[in-house]
Amino acid sequence: MNSKKLAEDYRQEIDAALEQYFQIPAEWPQAGLGEAMRYSLLAGGKRIRPMLVLEFCRIAGGDREAAMPVACAIEMMHTYSLIHDDLPCMDNDFLRRGKPTNHVVYGECTATLAGDTLQAEAFGTILRSDLPIERKAACAEILAGAVGIDGMCCGQYLDMLWEGKTLSEQELSEINSRKTGALLVAACQMGVAAAGGTEKELEAAGQFGAALGLAFQIRDDMLDVLSTEEKLGKPIGSDAQENKNTYMVLKGKEGCEKTIARLTEFAKSVLNEAFSDTDFLSDLAYALASREK
Ligand code: IPE
Ligand code: IPE
Ligand code: MG
Ligand code: MG
Ligand code: MG
Repeated sequence: MNSKKLAEDYRQEIDAALEQYFQIPAEWPQAGLGEAMRYSLLAGGKRIRPMLVLEFCRIAGGDREAAMPVACAIEMMHTYSLIHDDLPCMDNDFLRRGKPTNHVVYGECTATLAGDTLQAEAFGTILRSDLPIERKAACAEILAGAVGIDGMCCGQYLDMLWEGKTLSEQELSEINSRKTGALLVAACQMGVAAAGGTEKELEAAGQFGAALGLAFQIRDDMLDVLSTEEKLGKPIGSDAQENKNTYMVLKGKEGCEKTIARLTEFAKSVLNEAFSDTDFLSDLAYALASREK
């Protein structure tokens, strides 16, 4: 099967699995909170992180189906990060996944709580899964590390703290490896952990995820300048408006393209040292390098 078709199959499986969560009966008092969570969770999205969980689980010899709750969990965590990222106190954006942002529809308070709840439910979803206890504990630990004080939240903090400051390339990648890279690293490593994979496999998955994650954010910065609202499903020019430090500012379009190409090559080579059957993942890395949304 070609990689494009496989990605589409994965996306459909993931969407169907996510659909099962947070169906709160209308008469329960927290029904509105569940609705706000489902609004953003089911709004589409490329589902890259859950796809990485499932594919790394497969190439590490695991049972893909058993890893589906872990895949859903990382998408819940990612969706929480997007809801909060769009809030007026953060990037103050009005469009996400082609729809009005969560706080625009439900108000800031409910949007904040929808994010908080998705974060807690991500851990619950892993811990309630049928994976062996030591594998689910490993997945939960990886996810906690990727989001916590050294992870995504740290990256988001630095992104805000250093707004308007002239940054070195190292400082910029410090922000991006945390705010975006950390969850992509975790997705790859949780797939391996769900399969009960080896240390060597975990290490290679982490290196792949880190390179992919950095390339992913560089492309995101490019699209914020070069794409259109219709294609991207989010506002254009949001970074400049918020005085953000981006790779486009630091390196320009060609510099970004070169760095993405180098990172993508590296991501591909690192995989082949630890795994066989890596065609889908290297095709995915190349597709993301030139993605349009
Ligand atoms: C957007 O992530 C936020 C970043 C980390 C750059 P995605 O580009 O994966 O967003 P969705 O999930 O497809 O909406
Ligand atoms: C945010 O980066 C990364 C997250 C942790 C959500 P951006 O602020 O550039 O993401 P977009 O462009 O709004 O999706
Ligand atoms: Mg942001
Ligand atoms: Mg943003
Ligand atoms: Mg962006």
